[in-house]
Amino acid sequence: MAKEKEKALWSGRFSKAPHEMMKKFGESISVDWCFYKEDIQGSKAHGKMLHKIGILSMEELEKIQGALEEIEEEIESGDFVPNIELEDVHMNIENRLIKKLGDLGAKIHTGRSRNDQVVTDYRLYLKKEIGILTDLLKSCMEVFLNRAEKDLDVIIPGFTHLMHAQPISLGHYWMAYFWKFQRDLKRLEAALESVDISPLGAGALAGSTLPLDREYTRELLGFGEVSKNSLDTVSDRDFILDLQYALSTLFIHTSGLSEDLIIWNTQEFNYIQLPDEFCTGSSMMPNKKNPDALELIRGKTGGVVTGLFNLMMNLKGLPLTYNRDLQEDKKFVLENMATTKTVLEILPQLIEKIEVKEENIQKHLTKGFLLATDVAEYLVLKGVPFRKTHEIVGKIVQYAEPKGLDFKDLTMEQWKGFSLAFDPDILEILTPQKAVARRQTLGGTGQTQVLSQIKDGWEIIKEA
Ligand code: ARG
Repeated sequence: MAKEKEKALWSGRFSKAPHEMMKKFGESISVDWCFYKEDIQGSKAHGKMLHKIGILSMEELEKIQGALEEIEEEIESGDFVPNIELEDVHMNIENRLIKKLGDLGAKIHTGRSRNDQVVTDYRLYLKKEIGILTDLLKSCMEVFLNRAEKDLDVIIPGFTHLMHAQPISLGHYWMAYFWKFQRDLKRLEAALESVDISPLGAGALAGSTLPLDREYTRELLGFGEVSKNSLDTVSDRDFILDLQYALSTLFIHTSGLSEDLIIWNTQEFNYIQLPDEFCTGSSMMPNKKNPDALELIRGKTGGVVTGLFNLMMNLKGLPLTYNRDLQEDKKFVLENMATTKTVLEILPQLIEKIEVKEENIQKHLTKGFLLATDVAEYLVLKGVPFRKTHEIVGKIVQYAEPKGLDFKDLTMEQWKGFSLAFDPDILEILTPQKAVARRQTLGGTGQTQVLSQIKDGWEIIKEA
């Protein structure tokens, strides 16, 4: 970053330059320089509008547009590096324009304030970035659909309280995350809707005495609508909260998924083998292959959610309208967007390459009386009230567990001993495969149901 002394564009009423510490403390260029394209795009639109309302001649407009294009090229070629003395992206670019065009450059800020400019840049930037995130999320959802198809007939223990509960199709498990991600997608789209509003023309806080054509700049910048109230416009950061909430919820999901996979990958569970590419070793223990990618996804959740609370705390109790506190609205969000991008790139590759160890999983299916509810529901169909069947099956578990027996080890005599309603056909339902296939309730784990979810899932992807 350059550091030649530059006079601030607002220095007119000051007799002393800002303290060196103030410059460092007050700058946002280290964070907002990534908005340079949007800042130039906004200035071009603003310039066109100033021409439309008779403030810039055609010739002046063309010069300004040309100089703005040059500035963009200079930034991209590295010829123009921002100067911390000029605080932020807006003043760096405006100052450059003035250097190039003199008095003409000094016309670009007519009717504009950094207060409406910063949110114009920010909203344009987020529109682009949210688009990238939704595309990545959709690709990730496709991987879950493929994985669900592939693992439809793999039966694993389903858990509640991390205790064996009922058998489920692994395809059903992947689909659970598909639906969570589908809601994340909706939240991102909702955030996009609140981002898609044009602030330009709100000025510092109260609009302008000049006949600015806000509808025209909205159209040029491709925003869906024009903001309704200038005071609200320069103070509104709801669009960032909406985005951060969407990202936080997405991370709540990816962290829970990571946790399951980390557990499944342990020697104790041994359900899956994680791809080498997303694991790392230990500097001391040669035997180690650790699930670091998943741990990092889980671990980064704290940072992402903190971004949401950071901004909420920042906004709480702020008086209208713009306050410099609002400059702190970028760092975490930009970091969180980058983190989300990386996670959405890594996660689908990792999921695709997971090796499922079906034989080992089989061994686990005999533990924990996974079919207890099936036995109870069998009795229900024989006319026994459910509460009684629950009690009966509970007694069977109590009897069998200490002896190391499973349901399938019981003799007909033993079954009858617990309830005369048991018939030999009880033995027909006692496999995890049957238990899964028989759960045909809408949204249940039975393969027919999972297939129908997968079908709906592909429809959603096609429409999205
Ligand atoms: N760098 C500032 C920000 O990010 C731009 C707006 C500054 N406005 C002002 N009146 N100081 O919020």
